[in-house]
Formats: sequence, C-alpha cells, structure tokens
Amino acid sequence: MRGHFPLNFFNRTLRKKYRHQPVLLAEVLDNLPLNKGSIVVDCTVGGGGHASEFAKKITPGGLLIGLDVDIEALKVAEETLARFGQQVVLLNESYKNLDKVLVELGVGQVDVVFFDLGLSSLQLDCSERGFSYMREGPLDMRFDRRSNLTAYGVVNTYSERELIKIFREYGEEKKAKVIAREIVKQRERRPLTTTLELAKVIKKAVGGSPKEKVSTLARCFQAIRIEVNQELKNLKEALKKAVNWLRSGGRIAVISYHSLEDRAAKEAFRELSRGCICPPEIPYCRCGNLPILKQVNKRVIRPSREEVEANPRARSARLRIGEKI
Ligand SMILES: C[S@@+](CC[C@H](N)C(=O)[O-])C[C@H]1O[C@@H](n2cnc3c(N)ncnc32)[C@H](O)[C@@H]1O
Repeated sequence: MRGHFPLNFFNRTLRKKYRHQPVLLAEVLDNLPLNKGSIVVDCTVGGGGHASEFAKKITPGGLLIGLDVDIEALKVAEETLARFGQQVVLLNESYKNLDKVLVELGVGQVDVVFFDLGLSSLQLDCSERGFSYMREGPLDMRFDRRSNLTAYGVVNTYSERELIKIFREYGEEKKAKVIAREIVKQRERRPLTTTLELAKVIKKAVGGSPKEKVSTLARCFQAIRIEVNQELKNLKEALKKAVNWLRSGGRIAVISYHSLEDRAAKEAFRELSRGCICPPEIPYCRCGNLPILKQVNKRVIRPSREEVEANPRARSARLRIGEKI
C-alpha cells in the first residue's frame, strides 16, 4: 500500500472488530481462472476476505491488486494479506480510476477483475460511519472520507425535488414525496444531524407497521448512500473499463446486493456481449461492433440456504460472471 501501516495494536483491534464474511466465496473461486501466476484485480478489497483466498491460489508468481476507497478497510486488508508480501499491492483508490491504476503499475492484461459491491460489516457496524438506521451516528455514509459530500449534505441541502428523485431512483421508494416533504419541514426548524433523527423523521412521514417502517428506512438509507458515494455512476463506468483490461479467456465477477446494482451489471454484460447495435431496420451492420464478453452464468448465482443461515447479510447477494472473448 502507498504509505505503509505498521502491524500495530490499532490494526489488531480493527481486525477483531472486522467480522466480514466473504459472500459466495466457493461460487466465486469455482468460476474464476485463479492459477499460479495469475494477475487479479479486486476492485473492492474491503478487509481482504475474498482477496486472501485469491492470493492463496495465485501465489507464488501471481499478483493481486486490491483497491478500496476506505482507508480503514485497507488497514485491515493489509494485515490480512501481509503474508503474501510483494505479491499484493493495496491502493487507496476508487475502481473508477482503474485505467490510471493499471497504467501506473505497468500492468498489461489481467486474468480476473472482481467487484463485491456495497457495504462491509466493518462499515455497517461502525456507528460513527453513519450507515445504519439502527445505530446512532453522524449523518455521514461516505465510503471515502476524503470526499466532500456526506449524508448530512444530502439531507440538509438538497431541494425537496432532488430528495424525491433520489428516494425514487435509488431507493425505489413509493412514498418518496411524503418523506422528502417531512425532511424539508423538519430541517427548516434545525438541521438533521444524526442517523436516528433522520430515521424518526422518515418513520413519522410514512407510518405503517413496524415491518413496513423498517423496509422504508432500508430503502431511504440505501438511496442516500448511493447518492453520497455516486455508486451507480461509478459502477457503470468501471465495469466497461474493467473488461477492456481482461485477457482473452479472463473473467469478471460482480457480486451485487440490490436490484439497481444487479441491473447495472446485467446491462453492462448484455451490452458487451451483444456486438452489433444497429437498428433492426438497417439491412446490414454499419456499427462494426463485435461482442467482447460471454456471459458465463445466464441466471444469477444466489447464496445457498446454508450460507444465508450462517451469514444473513448474504441473503440479497447475486453473482454475475462474464468471460472475455
Ligand atoms: C462488501 S465490501 C468488500 C468486502 C471484501 N470482498 C471482503 O471479503 O472483505 C465492499 C467494499 O467496497 C468499497 N468500495 C465502495 N466503493 C468503492 C469504489 N468506488 N472503489 C473502491 N472501493 C469501493 C467499500 O469501501 C467496501 O470496503
């Protein structure tokens, strides 16, 4: 990693706190070309759960490049992956900068690009990060704490119309209007500063059973988080870039945790595997586009019942895999 972190007490404490179980691990390992000497990019290395299994398979001789925008996650990953020495490079970079990262490292083609989207348990369980509607914390929700936009900024400065749009588009929330109206009404008295304050305002706006309220909270918090981190925009850009770096026969794998992420992956894979994009009324192809990706699994791969029982956070996971032609 740029800027080395000593394996000190702080890291050990973090690692203890970090109980993130890598999701769909067996399915990922079974479907990726992970051989001694392979080059793998883990675009969302987190605490290095998947990455350490990749590293075991590709070393000696291979190279694992792990990216994460969250410096705290990288500290944990560095400890988890320390035993692989120089064969692991960890960078505090966004996957949207994949091109720049690989050019700077002088890497040509790679064998595997992997995305495990969403939140890690480290982030969700840390109340100061403000991701959870069940824990009191500041309205933050940034994966990358260098960035200026926080949940506080979204909730307290976005117009009512912008809030409605976010709740509808990123939360698929039917009661977006009443929620946005209530937020604006409350913040006129004083800014909303904490997760539980925001949760209370949302619950007040929607009413309904406790179960319905929890689902609404999950959708609204997801929507704000996606906006704060520009998740869908970054993902769409990164998926196409990533495929360009794969060698022929190399594979890309994406684990998503909600329908919007999965749709982004599905559409990117479909577009890259389609080839010709000329309108059907044109008798011969003018665009010259060729398919560059083959979808390995036509249906998404879901976690087994056993995995969900052991790790309930895996329940919404969906895995898509593509192979470079
Ligand atoms: C579900 S966790 C990954 C967990 C990891 N697979 C493991 O087993 O430990 C997702 C990670 O992606 C990171 N992340 C989110 N957006 C990112 C981006 N644009 N670029 C790089 N990492 C990102 C988050 O900070 C988080 O640590």
